[in-house]
Amino acid sequence: MTQFRALRGPALSFRGDPFIDPPSEALVHDSDAILLMEEGRIAAFGPAEALLRRLPPGVPLETFPSGMMMPGFIDSHVHFAQLGITGACGHGLLEWLEHFTFPEERKFADEAYAQRVARLFLDELARQGTTTAAVYGTVHAASVDALFSEAQTAGLRIIAGKTMMDRNAPEGLLDTAQSSYDECRALIERWHGKGRLGYAVTPRFVATSTPEQMEVARVLREEFPGCWLQSHLSETTAEVNWVRQLFPRCIDYVDVLETHGLLGPRAIYGHGIHLTHRERMRLASTDSAIAHCPTSNLFLGSGLFDLASAKSIAGGIRVGLATDVGAGTSLSMLRTMGAAYEVARLRGANLAPAQALWLATGGGAQSLGLDMTIGNLRRGMDADIVVVDTSPVAWLDWRCRQARDAHDWLGALMTAADDRVVHAVYAAGKRVK
Ligand code: GUN
Ligand code: ZN
Repeated sequence: MTQFRALRGPALSFRGDPFIDPPSEALVHDSDAILLMEEGRIAAFGPAEALLRRLPPGVPLETFPSGMMMPGFIDSHVHFAQLGITGACGHGLLEWLEHFTFPEERKFADEAYAQRVARLFLDELARQGTTTAAVYGTVHAASVDALFSEAQTAGLRIIAGKTMMDRNAPEGLLDTAQSSYDECRALIERWHGKGRLGYAVTPRFVATSTPEQMEVARVLREEFPGCWLQSHLSETTAEVNWVRQLFPRCIDYVDVLETHGLLGPRAIYGHGIHLTHRERMRLASTDSAIAHCPTSNLFLGSGLFDLASAKSIAGGIRVGLATDVGAGTSLSMLRTMGAAYEVARLRGANLAPAQALWLATGGGAQSLGLDMTIGNLRRGMDADIVVVDTSPVAWLDWRCRQARDAHDWLGALMTAADDRVVHAVYAAGKRVK
């Protein structure tokens, strides 16, 4: 028998992309909406007045009169194994990798440690309203087994892969082209497409993979076209210079990826800060995506992502928003939206609150090629919903009640809110907070 459940309250959803349509038209605010869920999907969504009469008789109804329903957040780039080095201060990217990241990631050779961190990580994602994440494991295949097996019980949509590194990393964190092929293949066969889980082929970045290993990544994508590919791109100038030395025959960083067959839909690159016009053009025209990681970029001092150029070039690059913990400072996508706004201002640009929410929902879905499935409140999509309620934070509640409109409300929320306002979270219709 089909199981219906309904939620009622104010809601924010999108009727368009606020980077294409004016944000005031793209974002829809319903002051009283109903969302009907059926077996993990949204069966109906719209103004309560119209939907109330059509609800199946006796359907359980939860109401959130002081809340705001919105699509579940999508974190398009995060390292679960770096939770334990969040806020490790004092260095730029390459030194931070050497001093903090690699020593921490070595600990994931211990499966029990990996399991414990995976549980902490998934609990925190759900608590923050993140219902989908693209996650990096460590080089150890068992770290990804730990994450996926915990994610099965958590009910979140988790896309993840074992990090591939066959050079320029310390002993204990290196694989080989052949071993990475064998391990990725086994992980894909074990986990990809199981429930809400998906596999991402994950060469860390081109500085830690030989051309032979990049060929393995390309072949895996060819053999398993439903899988994703995730990596890092053009995060700091020191990294860009290093990549230039490693690949002197390539025109630029993006050319290294293109030469090795690593661009295309479902390829998501973290950062993309120090890109040229040519590189942006190649990303846009191959439907490759960028994960914008503002708290990470501020924390490491990597640079300020030029979102306006990414969005205005030749049809626009697909961009999602990401925490990039542990270089990122918080698993909260609300805080990350606020940081994206601040980065835009530091570039002398603007980011409308509706655009920030889009990056954390519909834009993230586009970057993962999942925009028919997640990222909005629409019939047929997964029932991934966050209900925000500012009432536990008296001053913010007071501020939000004075908001001129939904845009002003959202601006205050992303600037000043923390996890106290994340009231309820549903992943595929199941309440996870
Ligand atoms: N570039 C290569 N590896 C990493 C990583 O783990 N974090 C970040 N922020 N950048 C990287
Ligand atoms: Zn990263």
